[in-house]
Amino acid sequence: MCGIVGYVGSNLAYPILIDGLKKLEYRGYDSAGVALHTGESLEVYKKEGKVSALEESVYGKNIQATVGIGHTRWATHGEPSDRNAHPHYSRSGNLAMIHNGIIENYAQLKSELVQKGYTFKSDTDSEVLLNFIEDIKINNDCSLEEAVRVALKRVVGAYVILLLDKDLPDTIIAARKGSPLVIGIGDRAHYLGSDASPMLAYTKEVVYINDYELAIVRPDELILKNLGNERITPFVQKLDMELAAIEKGGFDHFMLKEIFEQPQTIFDSLRGRLDAVQQTITLSGVEKIADKLLAADRIIIVACGTSWHAGLLAEYVIEELCRINVEVEYASEFRYRNPIITDKDVIIAVSQSGETADTLVAIENAKKQGATIFGIVNVVGSSIARLSDAGAYTHAGPEIGVASTKAFTAQLAVLYLVALKVARIKGTIEDTLYDRLSADLAKVPEYVQQILDKQDMIIRAVAAKYSDARDFLYLGRGYNFPIALEGALKLKEISYIHAEGYPAAEMKHGPIALVDENLPVVFVATKDSYHEKIVSNIQEIKARKGKVIAVVSEGDSVVTDLADDVMTVPQIHEIIAPLLSVIPLQLLSYYIGVNRGLDVDKPRNLAKSVTVE
Ligand code: F6R
Repeated sequence: MCGIVGYVGSNLAYPILIDGLKKLEYRGYDSAGVALHTGESLEVYKKEGKVSALEESVYGKNIQATVGIGHTRWATHGEPSDRNAHPHYSRSGNLAMIHNGIIENYAQLKSELVQKGYTFKSDTDSEVLLNFIEDIKINNDCSLEEAVRVALKRVVGAYVILLLDKDLPDTIIAARKGSPLVIGIGDRAHYLGSDASPMLAYTKEVVYINDYELAIVRPDELILKNLGNERITPFVQKLDMELAAIEKGGFDHFMLKEIFEQPQTIFDSLRGRLDAVQQTITLSGVEKIADKLLAADRIIIVACGTSWHAGLLAEYVIEELCRINVEVEYASEFRYRNPIITDKDVIIAVSQSGETADTLVAIENAKKQGATIFGIVNVVGSSIARLSDAGAYTHAGPEIGVASTKAFTAQLAVLYLVALKVARIKGTIEDTLYDRLSADLAKVPEYVQQILDKQDMIIRAVAAKYSDARDFLYLGRGYNFPIALEGALKLKEISYIHAEGYPAAEMKHGPIALVDENLPVVFVATKDSYHEKIVSNIQEIKARKGKVIAVVSEGDSVVTDLADDVMTVPQIHEIIAPLLSVIPLQLLSYYIGVNRGLDVDKPRNLAKSVTVE
């Protein structure tokens, strides 16, 4: 969470920083700010609210600087306000710093500084770290670089920090541990960012900075060192991403664009991997750890949020097809509960961003205990991808909307491939089922396109009918249960309507008490082995006057007749069906959020990349 940008070069820094912050706003939008080195002084501008509020407050000022840093904040320590916005000045005003992460021992550092007479203008852990660095610099009479190195040895927590020093007009000092930092190499210029999107317009050559590395960045020089002051050769990589991928392309919101991109993104996830004609699956990551997978006592899937829902569905699919025990864990619980891990465990980490702090630490811990890590990650070069022993990228392209849509379906596509591949290697799947599932998987992009083409207007109308509801219940069974959870999560995230996902049969054990004529109940009721059972559950809701909205398979007259509203998807094998049934639920949430006048791309209190625990 929080987005950071930096620029050193010969062009005006301010527009580059503002443009970069807008691209990173998905990481947090509580406040925004920039610090600029004018050659003589450090100027800080910051404002509570989105980047546009910062722009307005700076409008008309003549900002001449070719070096600067910028920050968009997701608040951790201290409420969203101008005062707590980054960048912060050090006590002397000679340093300015931005920070993404959490300094866990900030209270200890703060009390030491308070004893020395320091006072603080903000409530942030970041201002404490900055003054701690400055205190070391003054007391040791050393360079900023040296002071950062010394300070970071005492810091507990996660950080990316970028610092400007009044005495170093052409330099940014940067360091990272646990939060992401990418440096783009331009023509006598360098661009810094939490991800590569702010620099895409200027360069495709980037260096991903690792934990415990410190960068000294000047227009024509990038020096990388470890905390022991030894130089490291920067590893320059080429970005495989186009600028258009991070723009709205005529859609009102990124979320809508990303929902409509899914025929292509699912196709991209399958491309080069699933050969529907030869019925083969090529997944080099699975091949690399095939011996581990064959010998595995169990697979543990760790993830958070929407990615956890993808993991939950994978549990059903892998257990069914591969006959391997699967446990699905919330990364935040798994990392703290001293789980029993051995070198026979394979951990699958599922993450869009590849930077989610809980997932990252969970796999770090498991790796130390000998487990093999398989990463299913969207962002290329991200921390989870780099920590994994093997993996498969999801190829969904940049996901900017805070609520995950195309990344989820890409995760599912890859998880299906993994399950089919492992089942084939293990010999636990009949040829006929393997052929049917791979053929159906290959049809998904076309079927998703059909849903988008035929259902969009219908779903808009359903959304209009229920936009004022106070609560929603989402029910599903079997493979569709994780989709009920995902549908509920999507709705609450972007419409702020309370929504609960539940296994349809479990509803009788409590949630049914909520049902009355005002409660819309969304059933994920595509044709599957539980169909008759879910029809009974629909009857139970109808008997209590609940409003039933159902996702149904084409031609299902039974549920269509029972439900108040239906959203239809093509008929496909029940194991693959969730890839289709989630699409109407994404659209339903989107249109309800829009009808309620909300900023669906940037829902309140959320951030895209949760790099704090
Ligand atoms: C929901 C959503 C979040 C993320 C979660 C994990 O729409 O986006 O629940 O799924 O924060 O993030 P990643 O997948 O980046 O690890």
